Amino acid sequence: VNVASLLVFLTSYCLLHLYRKRQKFANIPPGPKPWPVVGNFGHFLIPPFVRRRLGQQVDNTGKSAVCVLTEQAKVYGNVYSLFVGSHLMVVLNGYEVLRDALSNHPEVFSDRPDVPAITLMTKRKGIVFAPYGPVWRKQRKFCHTTLRNFGFGKLSLEPCVLQGLAVIKTELLRLNEEAGGDGVDLAPLITNAVSNVICSLTLGQRFHHEDREFRTLLNLMGRGLEICVNSPAVLINIFPLLYYLPFGIFKELRQVERDITVFLKNIITRHRETLDPENPRDLIDMYLLEMLAQQAAGEKDSSFTEDYLFYIIGDLFIAGTDTTTNSVLWVLFYMVLYPDIQDKVQAEIDKVVGKHQVPSMTHKGSLPFTEATIMEVQRLTVVVPLAIPHMTSETSKFRGYSIPKGTVIIPNLWSVHRDPTVWDDPDSFNPSRFLDSEGKLLRKECFMPFGIGRRVCMGEQLAKMELFLMVTSLLQAFTFRLPEGLPPPPLQGRFGLTLAPCHFTVCVNPRS
Ligand code: HEM
Repeated sequence: VNVASLLVFLTSYCLLHLYRKRQKFANIPPGPKPWPVVGNFGHFLIPPFVRRRLGQQVDNTGKSAVCVLTEQAKVYGNVYSLFVGSHLMVVLNGYEVLRDALSNHPEVFSDRPDVPAITLMTKRKGIVFAPYGPVWRKQRKFCHTTLRNFGFGKLSLEPCVLQGLAVIKTELLRLNEEAGGDGVDLAPLITNAVSNVICSLTLGQRFHHEDREFRTLLNLMGRGLEICVNSPAVLINIFPLLYYLPFGIFKELRQVERDITVFLKNIITRHRETLDPENPRDLIDMYLLEMLAQQAAGEKDSSFTEDYLFYIIGDLFIAGTDTTTNSVLWVLFYMVLYPDIQDKVQAEIDKVVGKHQVPSMTHKGSLPFTEATIMEVQRLTVVVPLAIPHMTSETSKFRGYSIPKGTVIIPNLWSVHRDPTVWDDPDSFNPSRFLDSEGKLLRKECFMPFGIGRRVCMGEQLAKMELFLMVTSLLQAFTFRLPEGLPPPPLQGRFGLTLAPCHFTVCVNPRS
């Protein structure tokens, strides 16, 4: 009797579970049939050499993965489902759909999923991975306003960017001579300059590119990201307990995390000890002052704490370094591939800025072709092609489908920038598409390299300033060409945390 009742109980439980699952997933967007247990990404669990044997295409360039996601929209429509294990994920494609979800329904589509590996490291604090809600809103508002203050006035970061450029220029000439025709790798120089901008913004200090403290910080951040994205540590997302294993890559990850923590906490302590309320030096000072103001106002449950500040600094380094570096590199990469466009940009800079004046943000409005070129490269390359995953915070009807609460949402920005319904000949490189018949710059809503909606990039203005100043200054001073006899590097990028151009080197010819 006992066995019989147990069987009845188990059968009813399973049926109820299946019924609930069916109810939950009734009328969800269509999509490819998932594999049992592992879902649609099952084939990624098969080692590449076995997949090759099975005749499957194995490609480690992220752009093709993004292309695959975009291609699937042709089969299943612009809103389609995928399963990661038993978790539903909905991919949004094309301009209309993204705008409808992220701009028209922000209360539903602005949360972030709880990804185990990221949650273990960020505790869901900071801004990038924080859940949508009042704490995120207050923290983001404060940081956004502070970032804006760094755009101009006493705390402007423009001199810091220009200082970094002066270093790049000197180094470029030296390295070019050393390379003797083989070409220079621009990536380390641009990475240093961009990282130094984030250092000035957050830590209030620029570092010499060979400074030991600076190198330690960059190495730690770089290693941490490398482990999270490109190592067996990604398995933490499936088996979170792996994080605590006392050996191998998991142990190394925890050590890197500890080192970054000690490094940044020391810096916060130094700031607290030397804080001058009349002369805030950087974002840490501003944040500490906000904490004091909230304490003075008797705010007992304020989320403004040193602990939270620590995660915000980490966020700014992660969100603001790779993205901007790769955007600058992509523009220079396209300039090498399209020398006629490079000539046109230089002619405009020569006419407006001249050969000896330093380009500044005041020139921005007068350089429409240069701006259009930067935008066209950003349109074609989309360094954060799938944005950062969003999550629905309630069950909702969207474009005729039911999307349950807790669904992971992938905004496919890359598909928006290749959407033939909003761009003529979307795959071709044509900066003039951003200009009107009089050569004035056109603002296009369907251009969204920084995302849209409530979670739009918080550093958009800073990133645009860095991009503009770096590109104009470098093209004013140098002409970049491919090394003689080398084939052009492939157009598809390398996908890590962001989409980077494949490794390339350039010969640098001073212009005056
Ligand atoms: C988020 C792009 C530079 C800070 C994002 C998102 C994109 C993006 C696509 C995700 C939007 C979404 O989830 O819907 C870029 C690009 C950059 C850049 C293309 C450079 C060209 C920066 C810089 C900073 C920054 C310089 C700060 C110093 C952030 C933050 C978020 C974010 C904090 C998270 C916003 C939130 O969740 O509320 N960025 N970004 N980004 N970005 Fe950027």
